[in-house]
Amino acid sequence: MSFYTGAARRLFSRSPLCLTAPARLLHVTRPLGSDALFVHRNSSYNNETIPFEFNADNLKRAQEIIRKYPPQYKKAATIPLLDLAQRQNGWTSISVMNYVAKLLEVPPMRVYEVATFYTMFNREPVGKYFLQLCTTTPCQLCGSDEILDTIKNHLGIKQGQTTDDKLFTLVEVECAGACVNAPVLAVNDDYFEDLTPEATRRILDELKGGKQPKPGPVSGRMNCEPHGELTSLLSDPPGPGFRVRADL
Ligand code: FES
Repeated sequence: MSFYTGAARRLFSRSPLCLTAPARLLHVTRPLGSDALFVHRNSSYNNETIPFEFNADNLKRAQEIIRKYPPQYKKAATIPLLDLAQRQNGWTSISVMNYVAKLLEVPPMRVYEVATFYTMFNREPVGKYFLQLCTTTPCQLCGSDEILDTIKNHLGIKQGQTTDDKLFTLVEVECAGACVNAPVLAVNDDYFEDLTPEATRRILDELKGGKQPKPGPVSGRMNCEPHGELTSLLSDPPGPGFRVRADL
């Protein structure tokens, strides 16, 4: 028996669902789940028995990084050390995280928390070229959907997938912080900007051929200068004390 009475009962009675259901649903679309598993599951290529440790050069770099922090705050080096380890290993495996925790003398959970929060740490193997295409609003307004289709068609993969030759992994990301040069594709540490479908195909082909395409805007403009002629900041900037101190 329903416990609703009076006005609530009259309101709910308009619902086609049932007497005890609200007349208006707050959510009409199915919430989307993440495409990544955030907990660790042991697998043949990712388990604690697979050894990892820094090579001699990186161990030296790691010690230099750790020295920047007071001894009681060594854990502040978690992100730079994870980054260093990912660069050596190619991705952030459970062994990488455990090794960093051991080096920093913190419980492994402290490192897991960081590695699962920051999306720059790939907890699954990625291809040699990690393609991060920005599809946030400014890039989308400048054609990132078309660039996404171009990459998918050219490489034959979808978001989150790696090509069979292990060369490319494609993911969609939120704002890459270069909106003025939208649309933007990050390939490992390099940004390719002002992209067009033709330029995107050329960049992918050059990477596949073992070449290093020139990063930056493919439109030919320098950095983020205007596409047309300069319209502001045309004269030399005034010196210190401008309109404040006549004697400077
Ligand atoms: S929205 Fe794409 S870089 Fe900012």
